[in-house]
Amino acid sequence: MINSTNSHTILTGDRPTGPLHLGHYVGSLRQRVTLQDRYPQYVLIADLQGLTDNGSNPQKISQNIFEVMADYLAVGIDPAKTTICLQSALPALAELTMLYMNIVTVARVERNPTVKAEIAQKGFSRSLPTGFLVYPISQAADITAFKADRVPVGDDQLPMLEQTNEIVHKMNSLLPNPVLVPCQAMLSSVSRLPGIDGNAKMSKSLGNTLTLSASEDDISKAVHAMYTDPNHLRVSDPGQVEGNVVFTYLDAFHPDQAQVAALKEHYQRGGLGDRQCKQELEACLQALLSPIRERRQQFSADKAALMDILQAGTEKAHEVTQQTLSEVKRGLGLPVMF
Ligand code: TRP
Repeated sequence: MINSTNSHTILTGDRPTGPLHLGHYVGSLRQRVTLQDRYPQYVLIADLQGLTDNGSNPQKISQNIFEVMADYLAVGIDPAKTTICLQSALPALAELTMLYMNIVTVARVERNPTVKAEIAQKGFSRSLPTGFLVYPISQAADITAFKADRVPVGDDQLPMLEQTNEIVHKMNSLLPNPVLVPCQAMLSSVSRLPGIDGNAKMSKSLGNTLTLSASEDDISKAVHAMYTDPNHLRVSDPGQVEGNVVFTYLDAFHPDQAQVAALKEHYQRGGLGDRQCKQELEACLQALLSPIRERRQQFSADKAALMDILQAGTEKAHEVTQQTLSEVKRGLGLPVMF
């Protein structure tokens, strides 16, 4: 099916801090469903990373592991093709993090723009948990432990991959033979979905998400509250599509892009009301999410089956990640005892 020159190993992950939303869907989940037919793919439930800013609220993380599992299966991630695994059950990831921490300066972690923005947004100041500051190092451990060379993520994750590659080069330079593999992002065509409030990013902590489990009513309310063009007062007025969340979503989700182009043209010319655009968007989101919601309900009703899938995937991931850890340790001259 694939020859060795164009084969890739895919890894991506999610913090289980809540059910996944449309931003995850267009930024990464949708791509994973396609990629699993072409490449070996691992999907990591990053519970340790979730704990880095929920240290005092571990239940929030543990409860959401199975929510995220149900989301994965509901969108079509197939455990027969994709290895789904749990970060906290993979000791090699924590050990690699410890080894990498010694080759990354504090100044470097403080410079990571995504982490900087998160620190400001969460208002940590002096209460910043140490683990949070270094989570990009642990993410580098996630990616390199699987020797993943392709990572399907949104553009907010680019600084993580840049930092990962610095670690790859630095660590490889310390080893007699290179062990770690550099990685590249696979950005989706919509690498950042705005929130339903028009904020630049859909994010749980900003409270502007539409989750994959949203009810019909949630979807309808969210669409009807959406920001459009504030200067488009009468239906006959010409409207603006740039920065108009309804059109951004139509671009991201509508299956017929020719129809979206026609709607845009009509809107810009004047004569197309916001209400009609919203009806079109609502219909397309209802059609997308209704089967996902149904499948999700079925999957989350059977926790034991979810656990079996996670267990099997994590066992497979354990082997792969221990192997990389052993190679790194050997290269560093550390005795490998197990
Ligand atoms: N940082 C990612 C997020 O917040 C989650 C994540 C953890 C991840 N480990 C990863 C993503 C490894 C890609 C690869 O969404």
